[in-house]
Amino acid sequence: MKDRILQLVKEYVHVEHRRNPWQPGERIDYAGRVYDEAEISNLVESALEFWLTAGHWTDEFESKLAKYIGVKYCSFVNSGSSANLLAFWALTSPLLKDRQLRRGDEVITVAAGFPTTVAPIVQYGASPMFIDVTIPQYNADVSQLEAALSPKTKAVMLAHTLGNPFDIGEVKAFCDKHNLWLIEDNCDALGSEYDGKKTGTFGDIATSSFYPAHHITTGEGGAVYTNDPLLHKIIRSLRDWGRDCICQSGKDNYCGHRFDSQFGDLPKGYDHKYVYSHFGFNLKATDMQAAIGVAQLSKLNSFTTKRRENFAYLKNALTDVQDKLILPEACPNSNPNWFGFLITCREDVSRERIVSYLEKNKVQTRMLFGGNMVKQPCINDVEHRIVGDLANTDRIMNDTFWIGVYPGMTQEMLAFMAERIIEAC
Ligand SMILES: Cc1ncc(COP(=O)(O)O)c(C=O)c1O
Repeated sequence: MKDRILQLVKEYVHVEHRRNPWQPGERIDYAGRVYDEAEISNLVESALEFWLTAGHWTDEFESKLAKYIGVKYCSFVNSGSSANLLAFWALTSPLLKDRQLRRGDEVITVAAGFPTTVAPIVQYGASPMFIDVTIPQYNADVSQLEAALSPKTKAVMLAHTLGNPFDIGEVKAFCDKHNLWLIEDNCDALGSEYDGKKTGTFGDIATSSFYPAHHITTGEGGAVYTNDPLLHKIIRSLRDWGRDCICQSGKDNYCGHRFDSQFGDLPKGYDHKYVYSHFGFNLKATDMQAAIGVAQLSKLNSFTTKRRENFAYLKNALTDVQDKLILPEACPNSNPNWFGFLITCREDVSRERIVSYLEKNKVQTRMLFGGNMVKQPCINDVEHRIVGDLANTDRIMNDTFWIGVYPGMTQEMLAFMAERIIEAC
């Protein structure tokens, strides 16, 4: 019966999810889901199994994602923001002994970006220390790292902005020199490379988001990954209610010592399933989300090729307006898997004029998320420090926008966007 249902699902997808090619006058989104019957078949198969919580699809997704990135351990979670929360909170575990991050410690980051790269620092009670970024790379200005350092600095937490790797060589050397943790927010950069290796493999911990706009999607979803077995153990504990036990959902006594050990001041033999080494969360995703992810992962290489081609097309098409617009540049020694195409208007060009012209012509535009997080209402009463005046961050807040390069874009769509931008200049 399952085969019949899945056959019908395939037929349904061919009819109901068929898309006609884009026509001028139709909207061009900055991002979108790219999928076929494989994603929907997997989703229905997992729904028919009705396991619901993490199960065999989650195992498969986690191990395939870890293999793709080139890391030992991967944990699937319910969003990229949850992934950042977990990655940061892991550093606060008492199991890390003298390297445990504590309240009042400082974490170096940037203000030009997405709020939930910074949020866990604040939520825990540590202090963000903001450094500026460079244009047109839109990543941390590494020349400010030493100035940001204080005796309280314990970690660096940075995103690879819109897929463009930050200067990992310099940042890693700085972290190693001062014994600091490094968290890579890889949410916008799955598949990007630096020095021939995937981003997300350089830091102590890295994170992904699988929100529909991202490189692959599971609807809502995210991942936390590391090569360090202790950090992995802490991440799993914090993800799964803070428990000490490593049994998967629905499985008991995996270690064979469920009733014979001593923990804390609990009576000897207290059920290990209910022993808590942390005050944790529950940030797990469902098996149905993982089932979609398994199908998306098999498309990731072709998505990456398309994103790179789309980026190159736009860059080439806009070369003649470089006296009006600053075009994006990859970090040296990197091969980004671009999430979007960032543009900064030169002094005499109005962003408002270009963005409103594009939106009027149904080309969707985006800001670089929060622009300058230090100017956002949420910064009120939050203890933080900044290096210098964040001049480039302000410039981004005032003059920068981006358009999409997602794999669902055709050359006609890219040409239409480039023509409208040139007209607006
Ligand atoms: C750099 C960065 N980090 C974290 C996130 C959060 O991911 P999610 O929307 O899955 O919570 C995003 C979202 O787009 C992001 O761009």
